[in-house]
Amino acid sequence: MFDKMKTLDDLFGMQLKDLYSAENQLVKALPKMAAEAKDNRLREGIERHAGETQNHIARLEQIGKAMDLKLSGHTCKAMEGLIAEGKETMSENATDEVMDAALIAASQRIEHYEISGYGTAAHYAERLGHTEAAGLLRQTLQEEQLTDTKLNDLAKNYINQKAM
Ligand SMILES: [Fe+2]
Ligand SMILES: [Fe+2]
Repeated sequence: MFDKMKTLDDLFGMQLKDLYSAENQLVKALPKMAAEAKDNRLREGIERHAGETQNHIARLEQIGKAMDLKLSGHTCKAMEGLIAEGKETMSENATDEVMDAALIAASQRIEHYEISGYGTAAHYAERLGHTEAAGLLRQTLQEEQLTDTKLNDLAKNYINQKAM
C-alpha cells in the first residue's frame, strides 16, 4: 500500500514505481520469449527490445534518483499477468509458424500496456514541470511505439501468412 496520495506528483511517483516493476519483470521474460521465436527477424526483434528494456530501467532509475524517489518495493500486477499469459502461450503445443504469431500477439499486448503507462507518465511529468523526466519518458515511449510498429509489420506482412 502507498501512503495517501494527495497530489498529481504523488500519483506520478506511483506510476513510476509501477513502470519500474513492469520493466524489471519484462527484462527477465524477454530472453525466454526470444528463445522461443523460430523466425530470425522476430527473434532478433525481441532480443533488440530486451536490450532497450535495460535502458528503460536505467532511465527510470535516473528519474528516481533525480526526484529522490525509491522505485523498488512495488509489484505491477498487470505485467505479472501479461507475462503469465505469455508463458501459457509458450507452453501450448503449436507449429513453429503459429507459435511465432502467438508470440507477437503476446508481445503486442505487453507493448500496448507499456505505451499506455509511459504516455500517462510523460504527460504528468510535463504538466508537473519535470522537464528532464518528461524527456526521458518520451524517449522510452518512442521505443515502445517503434517496437509495437515493427511487431505489427512483421505479423501483417509475413508471420501471420505463414501461420495460415
Ligand atoms: Fe520498456
Ligand atoms: Fe516494451
